[in-house]
Amino acid sequence: MAEMARLSDALRAHDDAYHRRDDPEISDADYDALKRRLRALEAAHPELIAEDSPTQTVGAAPAEGFEKVRHRVPMLSLGNAFTDEDALDFEARIRRFLSLETDMPVALVAEPKIDGLSLALRYENGRLVEAATRGDGTTGENVTANARTLDTVPERLEGAVPEVLEVRGEVYMTHEDFAAMNAAQADKGAKVFANPRNAAAGSLRQLDSRITAERPLKFFAYSWGEVSSLPAGTQSGVLDFFRALGFMVSPAAKAVSGIREALTHYRGIEAERANLGYDIDGVVYKVDRLDWQRRLGFRSSQPRWAIAHKFPAERAQTVLEAIDIQVGRTGALTPTARLRPVTVGGVVVSNATLHNEDYVAGLGADGQPIRDGRDLRVGDTVTVYRAGDVIPKVIDVDIARRPATAQPWARPTACPICSAPAVREAGEAVRRCTNGLTCPAQAVERLKHFVSRGAMDIEGIGTKQVEAFWALEWVREPADIFTLEARFGPKGRDARRLARLEGWGERSAEKLFAAIDARRQVPLHRFLFGLGIRHVGETTAKLMARSYGSWATLAEAMTAAAMATGDEPSNEPRDHLLAIDGVGAVLADAVIAFFADERAMAAVDRLIAHVSPEDAEAPVATDSPVAGKTVVFTGKLEKMSRDEAKARAESLGAKVSGSVSAKTDLLIAGPGAGSKLKKAEALGIETVDEDGWLALVADL
Ligand code: IVH
Repeated sequence: MAEMARLSDALRAHDDAYHRRDDPEISDADYDALKRRLRALEAAHPELIAEDSPTQTVGAAPAEGFEKVRHRVPMLSLGNAFTDEDALDFEARIRRFLSLETDMPVALVAEPKIDGLSLALRYENGRLVEAATRGDGTTGENVTANARTLDTVPERLEGAVPEVLEVRGEVYMTHEDFAAMNAAQADKGAKVFANPRNAAAGSLRQLDSRITAERPLKFFAYSWGEVSSLPAGTQSGVLDFFRALGFMVSPAAKAVSGIREALTHYRGIEAERANLGYDIDGVVYKVDRLDWQRRLGFRSSQPRWAIAHKFPAERAQTVLEAIDIQVGRTGALTPTARLRPVTVGGVVVSNATLHNEDYVAGLGADGQPIRDGRDLRVGDTVTVYRAGDVIPKVIDVDIARRPATAQPWARPTACPICSAPAVREAGEAVRRCTNGLTCPAQAVERLKHFVSRGAMDIEGIGTKQVEAFWALEWVREPADIFTLEARFGPKGRDARRLARLEGWGERSAEKLFAAIDARRQVPLHRFLFGLGIRHVGETTAKLMARSYGSWATLAEAMTAAAMATGDEPSNEPRDHLLAIDGVGAVLADAVIAFFADERAMAAVDRLIAHVSPEDAEAPVATDSPVAGKTVVFTGKLEKMSRDEAKARAESLGAKVSGSVSAKTDLLIAGPGAGSKLKKAEALGIETVDEDGWLALVADL
């Protein structure tokens, strides 16, 4: 409904003025009146509540009001499986990693994936001492007072309880409680929630725990963080232990003999989904044996020993009202669907990605027809789907309902922002603006990326501020952010002042300068991610930061890789980059290309004059004999897979490389070792066999 959208926009603008810029534009009473009006409309049309409606977001204030808690054991996320094949692959990967015989069963626990928010409960000597939300996985919010109000969170644990026990699980709301609560809220003229998950999140993250106490929240236990000891050797055993302590554990959690039985259980849970009484969005499979879980460990932020098998996504039909082109930070032109708003799985969707121009034309990534070759046209009735938190997609079109006047969509030939020719290179699915950083859209997108949360995380500069500073020509590249104060601060050398800009004041300008100063030192991975190198996401940035340790080392290695020309037989710095678990050739070459680009490097040099990336701490067990060493595996390993050996070496602080050089400290050579062994011998590098390696790292 148009009025709801208008109210939402207005409230968001006022929220921004109030919270981010500390400069409210309307009185509190007027603000409350707008919000009441929106709530009333939402109460009358709950199916139209947008996920990002200002009534749904908990708002900046409470988030800032909680104390931060650093998780002693990070709270990780799960990888996804969407098909049975994905689930079978999961088991195959485990077998490979653990080098299991083909007839060795991999017992699992299959349990519902509850759609709520995760909570960590810390017990010391049986008493609840701290409750924390997940936050970004490393740091969460202290919600102890609120958690204590839940009936399903025991205050004291009886019996033989480990000294330290951090129980983790999901806070959720049942459908029945959700409906009753929303009805009561609507009666009071108070906020109604779009779905049980939002309601649970909004209720747990209340600054006043008396409000939480009135909300019907429940807690299911399914995992753990720091523990001084565990009374069981299996996942299912620990779940039984949790039950015995008085926690609720999902009754649908089941120990199964292997992935086949897990899939059967998945079908059973899927069939019962509507009768469960609370939202779940899939089934989690976890390796039952905890010694195997430990060996499998983690790959970046996801466990190798667990996976979430998602239920098929929700879908809905609506009208494609327009196809817009978005210009990304690398110049990619992405067609985007503007849709008549429609509810998909409890969330209002009005935009969806169309991936690339072939997708609109009815061609898949492999050049083969998709949707039987049907193209998408403005005016078409399309099917939209949405899986979990991912961006909604348009997956099909109903040709029978196509208006007679609908025209085929014309691929862009120029960038919609800078009008430079847009080209599509052979073998690429993406058409790109050819203007590089001269294209304002690309430059602006890069800046937005640079200041964003996962990157430099500069508080007080977001999309709007970047666009405004760009329009004023105050900021053209990241380095310019760090000279804002010297130019436009109270003692700036430019006559213009930030504090005098519309929407700003002395205080908000001061706050911004302080926030910028706070980022003159940042963790290396944030800096690296912020550079916006193609294919370098947060995870890869972390992997690279950990592997190289410092900006100087990384830059030196990448520059060396960029200088080593293609005709040389080997490019050692490139090999080193490729040896990082999680770095492939496409990514490596994108990074190297970035360091070979003079203009990009000049901008980086200007930035480095203001920002000092902090050295990354290697996750090193410093007392291990291989900490800080560079090791190479060659030949066949018989007792563990190459992947497990590599992961183990890395977790002990070693760098694993794919090639032998003067920098190699240790070669582990199995049967069949050839040229690498010869080279190591020639260089006088210490060499051990697999047993020697196992003896070295045993009991660590
Ligand atoms: S296990 C190391 N089990 O899903 C893995 N997570 O994507 C720890 N979730 O943040 C998580 N039900 O909030 C696990 N039975 C279940 C779950 C579950 C819901 C959520 C949890 C987590 C997210 C992972």
